[in-house]
Amino acid sequence: MLSVSNLSVQFGKRVLFDDVNVTFNGGNCYGIIGANGAGKSTFLKILSGKQEATSGHVHLEPSKRMSVFEQNHNLYDAHTVLETVLMGNKPLYAIKTEIDALYNDYNDANADRIGELQVQYEEMNGWNAESDAAAMLSNLDIKEALHYTAMADLDGKQKVRVLLAQALFGNPDVLIMDEPTNDLDYETIAWLETFLANYDNCVIVVSHDRHFLDAVCTHISDIDFNKINHFSGNYTFWYESSQLAARQRAQQNKKSEEKKKELEEFIRRFSANVAKSKQATSRKKMIEKLNVSDIRPSSRRYPAIIFEREREAGDQILNIEKLSADLDNEVLFDNIDLNLSKGDKVVVFSKDSRASTAFYEIINGKQKAKTGKYSWGITTSQSYLPLDNSTFFSEKLTLVDWLRQWATTEEEREEVYIRGFLGKMIFSGEEALKTADVLSGGEKVRCMLSRMMMLRANVLMLDEPTNHLDLESITAFNNSLKNFKGTVLFTTHDHEFAQTVANRVVELTPKGVIDRHTTFDEYMQDDKIKALREKMYS
Ligand SMILES: Nc1ncnc2c1ncn2[C@@H]1O[C@H](COP(=O)(O)OP(=O)(O)O)[C@@H](O)[C@H]1O
Ligand SMILES: [Mg+2]
Repeated sequence: MLSVSNLSVQFGKRVLFDDVNVTFNGGNCYGIIGANGAGKSTFLKILSGKQEATSGHVHLEPSKRMSVFEQNHNLYDAHTVLETVLMGNKPLYAIKTEIDALYNDYNDANADRIGELQVQYEEMNGWNAESDAAAMLSNLDIKEALHYTAMADLDGKQKVRVLLAQALFGNPDVLIMDEPTNDLDYETIAWLETFLANYDNCVIVVSHDRHFLDAVCTHISDIDFNKINHFSGNYTFWYESSQLAARQRAQQNKKSEEKKKELEEFIRRFSANVAKSKQATSRKKMIEKLNVSDIRPSSRRYPAIIFEREREAGDQILNIEKLSADLDNEVLFDNIDLNLSKGDKVVVFSKDSRASTAFYEIINGKQKAKTGKYSWGITTSQSYLPLDNSTFFSEKLTLVDWLRQWATTEEEREEVYIRGFLGKMIFSGEEALKTADVLSGGEKVRCMLSRMMMLRANVLMLDEPTNHLDLESITAFNNSLKNFKGTVLFTTHDHEFAQTVANRVVELTPKGVIDRHTTFDEYMQDDKIKALREKMYS
């Protein structure tokens, strides 16, 4: 369908791709993964012709159409919603535009041309285009009343949905998406997952969203060491199988037959799970055809995130009564009662993300509540990963000195002790001597996690912990919280994180709290809760 031959890309001295040869086939969905700055976005831009390679070729089969999910949300502001969607099918839209222009200037000379174009239009199923576009929009909950509105008049959430409809419109043979779930809400992501899982054409997508990758991918395309390697299976399969292969490599005394058996057994169990999952799709069949030769040990380095507790907390964790918060006279949440017990892992959220952030700031004593009170159990100790960590990084300290600020004993002040925590977050050697004021967003979060590990609190609070982190860190972080024995309060837009860590869901609304001991998916999919949520925000 789409092939890349002898592709090399270099910016100055930095080599991103060196003689890459890969083919993307119809019917498959490829999830592109790779470290920050590995070249994922650059690769997609080269595929879609937006950027030139240093050398090499991209070849799309003749008569096949490619479409790109637009990341610039304001590009179509001057057009109406329906027109924006129609523009997604470029050849069709070009014909339509030409027909319209010729009609405006109708004469005998152009009548023939109009006839010709109309035949083409007919062949491309053009007469149904508007109703198809309208149906697509309605599926995405963009109501008919908005179809003739200018894009400029929509809010951000609506714009993304229209651009999504544009990308999907007219069934492109190859669909390219760069981090499509970033600005989407839970419902839209769920819709997109189902749509793509049932989509028969080729999809090439960059994403850090593991739930999304698992739901849609038949292949993982890993960018590493300037090359791209395809692996069959979804993200979890790639992760688990490559981890297993890496463990096997270390077991030198184990017979190769035993290892092969173990891998086959792993594939059998994995495929059985996929078959059981709800997604009844054509994509799924691809995932069932996995084989041992596809499995290779991972060369990735995963941070070692391990949260230990200085001591175990007693039964009383946190008690909150009638808590409320405002922002510029707007109610963020009101009348929140909450009692946390040992072992609660709570995903805290609200339709307005400022509400959950205010909540953490209040219970960490950084901000005053409007009304109400909270009290921590005397045996609890807290550590908090705030959404905005900028105040932690204003000083020019080496990372070793930076982390030393939270040392409480002589032992903890030792450089080797501190380097242990930095090393766990893959700051080693020279890197630990970087200064705190020059770090990237991802590096800052990694420092904050080193700090959290060193604090050894029994209650962890995390406001959007996966922001800026790469997939390796997110996966390691997620695993560590699943295993953590203390209490966790967290807010995340990462579906997999929410679903696999939380055993309780707390929603903060302007009309009080919704509090359920359940998983995130069960909460979001429950019709009674859906109705209640509507009421609480109305
Ligand atoms: N036009 C450009 N000129 C110079 N460097 C670039 C250009 N585009 C991207 N880069 C660099 O190439 C690397 C890969 O960028 P990108 O493809 O955006 O990475 P990813 O999407 O994998 O995070 C980065 O180090 C980036 O700074
Ligand atoms: Mg990118």
